[in-house]
Amino acid sequence: MERELALEIVRVTELGALSAARWIGRGDKMAADDAATTAIRSMFDSVSIDGTVVIGEGEMDEAPMLYIGERVGNKNGPAVDVAVDPLEGTEVVALGLHNAQSVIAIADRGSLLHAPDIYMEKLACGPELAGKLRLEDDPETTVRKAAMITGKALSELTVLVLDRSRHEKLIATLRRLGVRIRLLGHGDVAGAIAAALPDSDVDLYMGSGGAPEGVLAAAALRCLGGELQGRLLPEGPFEMQRCLMMGLDHPMRILSMDDMVGTGDVIFAATGVTSGEFLSGVRKLSKDRAETQSVIMRASSRTIRYIRSIHYLPGKEIPEGTAQRMNAASQ
Ligand code: FBP
Repeated sequence: MERELALEIVRVTELGALSAARWIGRGDKMAADDAATTAIRSMFDSVSIDGTVVIGEGEMDEAPMLYIGERVGNKNGPAVDVAVDPLEGTEVVALGLHNAQSVIAIADRGSLLHAPDIYMEKLACGPELAGKLRLEDDPETTVRKAAMITGKALSELTVLVLDRSRHEKLIATLRRLGVRIRLLGHGDVAGAIAAALPDSDVDLYMGSGGAPEGVLAAAALRCLGGELQGRLLPEGPFEMQRCLMMGLDHPMRILSMDDMVGTGDVIFAATGVTSGEFLSGVRKLSKDRAETQSVIMRASSRTIRYIRSIHYLPGKEIPEGTAQRMNAASQ
């Protein structure tokens, strides 16, 4: 994949984020998702790839665009798999909360896991711990190992966990051990990435979230030298059947980075919609200017680029000072 492709991809997530941002705090998560999806789909037409959506808005009969199997791109470029979440955090945007982003990962054709829209148990970490932990270990063993390897006391470790009742037992274990927990309202792609960023204060991401988000996070972690291990959690025969139909012969087995993102190059881009773990949200600067912050990474170079863009949007509705309010709320 050409280096320049990274910049083309980030232009797509920027447009997705700008489009979703118009719906911040308006209580309509469908409209926010539709806005981001429509914008991203139309922008893909100009991207120099011969892309196939493997993670998108659902099956062909469930989603009008960015459905699994849809071809995207202008075909003047490499054959790639596309994983896209036009708006990760639909409810976040509807409720005006934080940690929503537009996310895309691309990788050589055939590399990205076709993950069904079910839960996945995840364990994510940065380069120092990559390859040294095992998802099959119980949480206590995992954090004790992490403490030993990093040379930290248990009380100095920070673990990010989605704030869900299904994580009660995990949270109780971590509390008993004295580990610091950061509970996340939504957005576990950003959560998993936070565990691997060089300047992060997060050591591990643990718990279950969406499987498609797991693949997107794994793509980012490949670029960061981190690791995400996953295990699909099909509930009932329908979800089990769905896994089998997607070619996953042993749905419950532990998925490695290679299983989820292959071994070749990966490009990952994300643009903040509302401020979150590591990206600021869309910010209105003037009546026709808005600022976005994005991250763009490539596995082959492992460079992490943050891009601050100031967009000229005459005649478009730009949300008022949302990002500043988010920053204030999260401090
Ligand atoms: P949406 O974009 O579908 O709103 O997902 C937001 C999210 O927080 C994901 O980041 C996460 O993987 C998933 O929801 C967790 O699902 P649940 O809210 O059911 O626990």
